Amino acid sequence: MLCGVYTERSECARNDSIFNMTDYSAKRYGPRLNEMMKDVLMEPDVHGPEAHYHMVRGGKDLRNITIWESGKVGKEYIKTYGHYHVGAISETYWIVYGEGITIAQKRMAGSDGEPIDDEIEEIRIVKVKMGDAVYMPRGWAHAAVNIGKTFFVTADDSPVNFEDVEPSSLPGHADYEPIKKMRGMAYYIVEEHGEPTLVKNPAYKKVPDAEIEDWRPEFAKKE
Ligand SMILES: [Fe+2]
Repeated sequence: MLCGVYTERSECARNDSIFNMTDYSAKRYGPRLNEMMKDVLMEPDVHGPEAHYHMVRGGKDLRNITIWESGKVGKEYIKTYGHYHVGAISETYWIVYGEGITIAQKRMAGSDGEPIDDEIEEIRIVKVKMGDAVYMPRGWAHAAVNIGKTFFVTADDSPVNFEDVEPSSLPGHADYEPIKKMRGMAYYIVEEHGEPTLVKNPAYKKVPDAEIEDWRPEFAKKE
């Protein structure tokens, strides 16, 4: 029997599947809590919301949905933690709702070919809104902030292994450690006189100058 979403759950219990796939529906949701976000906030001791954003994992096929709370922690807009990918994984973010700014950065490589966490070679910061898409090439860390008064919502196509211990909040393909060590991405995105403004993260040794660019179709193009 082909089990569908409208099929009685009990009828599918024998092989525990929906559409003949393993049922991961209860493992999809994870909130990103303030406690973890303190690692990467510009002002970690300022009061923040209990959850900064919400993740629903569907992986490459169903997509992953992220929902940012609206508001700021101190001067800094609500943002995602930021991560590099393990291995050669690229991804696309589609903006589903709201207004935000994406930030992506590529590390310099040392003479041994290994990336240097506190030296950034290239950085791209883009203002986005509903309908835009941004491609994140392999090797680039990425994060985004909500600059609007509503939720900011994205879909992305990064892979998720639901056999991971915490597939929603700590997917195995994401490497959070370099961002944790550097206390965030190379720039913090803050509100200054009502406008989004960049503040260099002083923990980095080398960071190129950057500005917030308006979205262009080329930002959605794959390598
Ligand atoms: Fe990612």
